[in-house]
Amino acid sequence: MSDFEFRSNRRDLFKLAGAGAAAAATLPLVPMSAFAADPKFTLGEPKPGFILDPDVLYMNIGTTGSTPNHVLKSFNQDNREVARNPLETFGGVTPFREAIAPGFGAELEEFVISYNTTDGMNKILAGVELREGDEIVTTNHEHPGGNGPMNILAQRYGVKITRVALPVGNDQKAGDYVDLFRKAMTKKTKAFVFSAPTYLTGVMLPYKRLAKLAQKNGIMTIVDGAHATGMFDLDFHKTGIDFWGCSGHKWQCGPPHRRRATSRPQPVITKPRCRCSTSGRPTPTTRC
Ligand SMILES: Cc1ncc(COP(=O)(O)O)c(C=O)c1O
Repeated sequence: MSDFEFRSNRRDLFKLAGAGAAAAATLPLVPMSAFAADPKFTLGEPKPGFILDPDVLYMNIGTTGSTPNHVLKSFNQDNREVARNPLETFGGVTPFREAIAPGFGAELEEFVISYNTTDGMNKILAGVELREGDEIVTTNHEHPGGNGPMNILAQRYGVKITRVALPVGNDQKAGDYVDLFRKAMTKKTKAFVFSAPTYLTGVMLPYKRLAKLAQKNGIMTIVDGAHATGMFDLDFHKTGIDFWGCSGHKWQCGPPHRRRATSRPQPVITKPRCRCSTSGRPTPTTRC
């Protein structure tokens, strides 16, 4: 089979596979090549106009989405404005936070813009004051974006990391995951850190129940929600979670890693349970 045949067969397969989903979602069935071939191609509002390479069958797996044309345009304009007037670099992001925070059920002062989920998780875990002997309960399915800062806490500050082994398969119940965390926690546990959903199997951990268990025991909950943005109606105050790091460049096709968060909002949502110590380092209160 030639490379061309292989590619077109994969496209046909994609079209077929998409047919069921498209019918279910009552969306028009659109071959990916249509997006690639014509940057002016439209599918409702807002107009996607992707500039995808026509020779690439791109299936977004949530690592990084392709940024649509109109976003690239405004991103470019933003960069040009800074090039013209470098003082623009100091432009505030408050109006963007004000606009975005309510969509996550968060208040302005709870909502921080980071470069991506990894940056958000690093900021969160560097900001909470964990000391030698404190314990984090996490899972064996965490992404390096969360494992990195947890490893720093372990290696530099002597924080103990306990990992629950997540069961894999279709016969798990929400309560099974909660039991695993319950068994793993001790009197020294200060934080639950887990992804929802996890990147290895896509399982959505029962974050509300885990947060409830944490709250009952004076433990904070930190969630790597890299894949959660826009996937469901997140009402942050109802989750019981203390910190939630997310990204907008994956499924939502926001612009890639760049200097200005104005163009690429990656939300970190926090419950106002931190107060600033005299050193300026956020210190968790006993409980909120
Ligand atoms: C669960 C999870 N967390 C974090 C990340 C890193 O995301 P970002 O590129 O926003 O830092 C990924 C990347 O795919 C991921 O799957």
